[in-house]
Amino acid sequence: MIQVRIDPAIKNVIDNFRLPENLGFGNIMAPIMASCSYENGKWGELEIIPYGPISMYPNAKVLHYAQEIFEGMKAYRIDGKGPFIFRPAENFLRFNRSAERMAMPHIPKDIFLQATFDLIAYCSKVVPSHSGESLYLRPFMFATEEALGIKPSEKFRFMVIASPSGSYFTSEGLSVLIERFAARAFPGGTGFAKAGGNYAASLLAAIKAKNMGYVQTLWLDGRERKYIEEMSGMNFFAVIDGALHTPLLNDSILDGITRRSIMTLAQDKGINVIERKMDIEELLKDIKAERCTEAFACGTAAIIAPINFLAEENGERFPLKNHEGKISIELREDLLALQEGRAKDPYHWVEYIEPKSI
Ligand SMILES: Cc1ncc(COP(=O)(O)O)c(C=O)c1O
Repeated sequence: MIQVRIDPAIKNVIDNFRLPENLGFGNIMAPIMASCSYENGKWGELEIIPYGPISMYPNAKVLHYAQEIFEGMKAYRIDGKGPFIFRPAENFLRFNRSAERMAMPHIPKDIFLQATFDLIAYCSKVVPSHSGESLYLRPFMFATEEALGIKPSEKFRFMVIASPSGSYFTSEGLSVLIERFAARAFPGGTGFAKAGGNYAASLLAAIKAKNMGYVQTLWLDGRERKYIEEMSGMNFFAVIDGALHTPLLNDSILDGITRRSIMTLAQDKGINVIERKMDIEELLKDIKAERCTEAFACGTAAIIAPINFLAEENGERFPLKNHEGKISIELREDLLALQEGRAKDPYHWVEYIEPKSI
């Protein structure tokens, strides 16, 4: 256990916080946040303080060179059970893999977990309670050194903020544009890291997809534009001849915790799971031949989102025959039941967080 400074001012902001009816995703912020600074080669004191603006000098390195990483996790409190958090140690490990790639210091496990757990513990009343709803947690770290030289920062700040959020899920299915031109990531780059810059690089394609009436971008590999990688914030799966196929991880794909959890759940249900390089032309043929009847995207926010159709920029569409997604809906329900503490947890993926008050 580490020493944490709890600002007494958090009592008032928590007591006065009211959850609105309509949550949306990531719009409402929890009334407190965690903060810890890194300087002279070491991490300082972890603080829990009221949520609010932070001040930085305009020459802070993050504002110029994008030395920033983040994570996304969810806490659940359904039917009076919980709050529970799902596989937080995996997010911690991925956070430090991202930190290494972006020339940032590792965060100690106890700071990462204590910050996250304390936010949930003090905000347990802020965790929404309808199925599909959750407290979305956003740990992040950014470079704060005040200097314009293109050198790794020597000062950083780690923070955790949280957002009571509604379900991200739409049952009508995603419409997905295959991105044949731009690349989000490439070999030797930062695609496997959860670095803010990767998301900035995906936004122009998101605008194009939206203007054409689609909601998601499907990224292909950065070298040949031949192999499927992932969506801008979710991993990709397709059901082909009854087996579950997903792109083999490489350094331009994010190693999703939902992806890994789904692979385990599917295998345990007797579904054949195949990780491989997935050629986009082959997949389109398989969709046309109705060998591929289902496809879905997955990630912490949406859990599993079935895909209605893939589309080319010329308007050609490849509808998934079974886009209501028998396998996707079933796996989604299995995973959500675990996360919400409604199902047995043979994998020990779910951790209970004892609520705290001040
Ligand atoms: C680029 C990208 N791929 C995949 C995912 C899914 O990862 P996870 O299941 O750990 O949320 C995310 C979201 O975190 C993401 O940003």
